[in-house]
Amino acid sequence: MKWINNKAKGLKQGTIRAMFDRANKMSDVISLGIGEPDMPTPKLICDACKEALDKGITHYTPNAGMLAFRQAIAEKTYLKDLHYDPNTEIIVTNGGMGALSLLFLVLLNDGDEVLIQDPQWLNYVAQVSYCGGIAVRVPTDLAHNFEMQPETIENCITPRTKALMINTPNNPTGSVMTRETMQKIAELAVKHDLLVISDDVYNTLLYAGEEAPCIAAFPGMKERTVIINSFSKSYAMTGWRIGYVAGPAEIVDRMTKCQENFNACANAPGQYAGTIALDHPELCKELCRIFARRRDILLNGLSKINGIHCNQPTGAFYAFADISGFGLSSVDFCNRLLEEQKVVCIPGSAFGECGEGFIRIAYTCSEEDLSEALRRIECFCKTLA
Ligand SMILES: Cc1ncc(COP(=O)(O)O)c(C=O)c1O
Repeated sequence: MKWINNKAKGLKQGTIRAMFDRANKMSDVISLGIGEPDMPTPKLICDACKEALDKGITHYTPNAGMLAFRQAIAEKTYLKDLHYDPNTEIIVTNGGMGALSLLFLVLLNDGDEVLIQDPQWLNYVAQVSYCGGIAVRVPTDLAHNFEMQPETIENCITPRTKALMINTPNNPTGSVMTRETMQKIAELAVKHDLLVISDDVYNTLLYAGEEAPCIAAFPGMKERTVIINSFSKSYAMTGWRIGYVAGPAEIVDRMTKCQENFNACANAPGQYAGTIALDHPELCKELCRIFARRRDILLNGLSKINGIHCNQPTGAFYAFADISGFGLSSVDFCNRLLEEQKVVCIPGSAFGECGEGFIRIAYTCSEEDLSEALRRIECFCKTLA
């Protein structure tokens, strides 16, 4: 249509959505495709939202979000030891995606390069391109547990490189970056004067007993790090659209002006409920326990299927399984798995070239469905052997 601009014409439906559309037309499908907790938002948070509605908290909030909420984010989350100023260094956003889009809108001039892991959740690439930037992919591989290697990153740096994205625990691989690698990446960022964007939306979902290190805590990093986080995955609140950013005051100030002009603020009852949620970290721990059990079921089941090899993901709710031995592309594998056994997995190539030969399996369904899906995957793989 003649009125639509070229950028919008270039937007495509992602592979993940396309798989869901196909699956929705079928019956008896088990989805291991969806990247969101399947359980309801905890009752305590829903009750807090109802209380907000009853109290008439239904109007615009400050563009940066309710101050009480920003204070709670500064004082009651993993960021507390970093002493972010809730008045100037924190902004509440429409989920993590709202945070990322505001950020890229204020950061990028045409042609600026942003380093993004491959494989990686692709919305970063779409957003960077839409904002005039160039997404430069940093290859990773199974042999290094899909962790970006500092030498590889350094090879991708040019005079136009402005920022480096990190996402740990990672979507799609479930890998958690080691403290050693993070330390080296921090040193690299300081050496090359890069901004680091740390997408921490999965950092309450950790299964190896360790805490996720925060890159802003490394020497010289707080002033060059923008933290992205959200309540979507940690509190099963994907539909609420509540996220936040902590970062340098000047960047937060520009993002707040952008938010003022583009969407005013995140929804008010959700901010109120989010403030109360932060008094209840046990809710995140309960979610983590549920996913830990499912992860064990999944890894145990996959280990018994001939031809599938899987890393040991220690975070998020994804496994990234190697199916290259079957000689099918990851798209063909997933299409046939859906048609023949009615199980949705996402082709690794949906996350970049380095994802070819893998499938992303999200353990975001009940233990019963997961066990049944494993049985079907095994049947399917036997037909390929
Ligand atoms: C790596 C990553 N970051 C950010 C998001 C955004 O989540 P939300 O906008 O729901 O907070 C997602 C959602 O799937 C994600 O996988």
